[in-house]
Amino acid sequence: MNQRYSLTAISLHWLVALGIIGTFALGVYMSDLPLSPNKLKLYSWHKWAGVSLFLLILCRLAWRITHRPPPLPATMRPAMRGIAQAAHWALYALMLAIPLTGWLMSSAQGFQVVWFGVLPLPDLVAKDKALGALLRDVHVTLNYTLLCVVAAHVGAALKHHFIDRDDVLSRMLPRAAK
Ligand code: HEM
Repeated sequence: MNQRYSLTAISLHWLVALGIIGTFALGVYMSDLPLSPNKLKLYSWHKWAGVSLFLLILCRLAWRITHRPPPLPATMRPAMRGIAQAAHWALYALMLAIPLTGWLMSSAQGFQVVWFGVLPLPDLVAKDKALGALLRDVHVTLNYTLLCVVAAHVGAALKHHFIDRDDVLSRMLPRAAK
């Protein structure tokens, strides 16, 4: 079996990673701003980026379901393999749930998402102030959960590279693509 990720898998991985870092940072920054036209503009950008990422993540998930990733090193203990696989599926679940709760929140707050100011997206739920506030809390909590899982993911990748000295990280780096 091929021991490396394909160029498509590598591109999707790093595009989504960059997109999430940017959208996360924008989310934290914009939330603390006082109400102004600039804040509303940044909210729109955040929503457009989030919806675009949602589509990209759907592509990534479709790719993952139809392609088998290269195997984990044979030296890894079964418990560690189980933890790694559970963490990967948790990442996929969070990456889908975060934009979805953002979209649901916008609908519940009564703000229809107009993608890039051009394409009005359907409201997923009717306007409901209490539900909007609840979904905001869910959106924020899921984001900080994602932050913790990503920190563990990055930590594990660095341990593989610098301590175990295997190819788990390098096979996901662009220069490793064949
Ligand atoms: C992967 C995609 C997304 C990420 C990583 C993300 C991340 C974040 C983060 C970190 C915050 C700030 C949380 C805080 O207060 O500390 C936030 C707030 C927010 N997000 Fe997202 N988000 C995403 C997608 C979306 C989408 C698709 C929408 C709507 C269509 C959306 C709507 C909002 C709104 C309205 C807020 C402000 C909540 C408030 O302060 O009332 N987000 N997001």
